[in-house]
Amino acid sequence: MEEHAMSPSPPMPTPSSTEPTREKLHIVGVSKWFTSRMGRTTALQDISLKIHDGEFVVLLGASGCGKSTLLRMIAGLEVPSAGRIFAEGREITSPGRDRGLIFQTYTSFPWLTVRKNVEYGMRLRGMPRKERTSQARHFIELVGLERFMDAYPYQLSGGMKQRVAIARTLANRPEVLLMDEPFGALDPETRWQMHDLMSDVMAKSKTTVIMVTHDVEEAILLADRIVFMGRNPGRIREVIEPALEKNAGDKESLRTTPAFIALERKIRCTMRADSPTTLQ
Ligand SMILES: Nc1ncnc2c1ncn2[C@@H]1O[C@H](COP(=O)(O)OP(=O)(O)OP(=O)(O)O)[C@@H](O)[C@H]1O
Ligand SMILES: [Mg+2]
Repeated sequence: MEEHAMSPSPPMPTPSSTEPTREKLHIVGVSKWFTSRMGRTTALQDISLKIHDGEFVVLLGASGCGKSTLLRMIAGLEVPSAGRIFAEGREITSPGRDRGLIFQTYTSFPWLTVRKNVEYGMRLRGMPRKERTSQARHFIELVGLERFMDAYPYQLSGGMKQRVAIARTLANRPEVLLMDEPFGALDPETRWQMHDLMSDVMAKSKTTVIMVTHDVEEAILLADRIVFMGRNPGRIREVIEPALEKNAGDKESLRTTPAFIALERKIRCTMRADSPTTLQ
């Protein structure tokens, strides 16, 4: 079992516990609070977690438990109020090319074609034209959009736009891919195809992924580990390793195995227990 916070009011980390490790990511005693006219909101309290190289970690939990806040801190877009986050032993203090962030809404540049969108980051880095053209082709093929290289985002479906966002982010060769409900706006069938795509991308690019989702089935199918979060304040409640035989058969068969059904039921029961009787 990984280290993670279980108690609702744990003590602040001692200096010795803030020593970084060489894990891909090491989150050490991180809390985050926001102060506004309405008072102070503790979005996250004492989060500690190690994420290994090449791991696919899913953050699951009720609305408001701090999933996006945690992802934004790993991306370097927010600063922890307490605690520290390390990437391979170096403290994260700002955004970096080693971490790519994908949101629920499609974030391609509407005035650029698919090819130019994917080339964008490489152009900013000054990569020679020939090299970036071939790199862009590689990532566009990886997400299956080679027929749409010269299309503009408005000519694409939602699923295709999200595939452009994935290709564009992967083309920057991030070591960690941070995805905040990336398939939330997609219909179930497209979502299903995106899971295959993600498994394929993971196998080929060996990227470490942290993905936020509300979809329990998606979490079980994709995750090496599911970090189940609770709220008020946002904290880690449980870390679950699905440990299913993912290569044993197709996804449709896997979904109906007793192990899958038992795990899905366990997670849904835990989620329900964390839900308030009234919406907040
Ligand atoms: N910039 C901010 N200012 C004030 N409060 C904030 C800010 N960002 C987040 N919060 C608060 O922090 C808490 C966690 O928010 P966050 O967006 O991380 O939750 P979430 O788990 O991603 O929720 P959802 O599943 O609905 O996306 C919420 O109570 C939210 O109101
Ligand atoms: Mg969110």
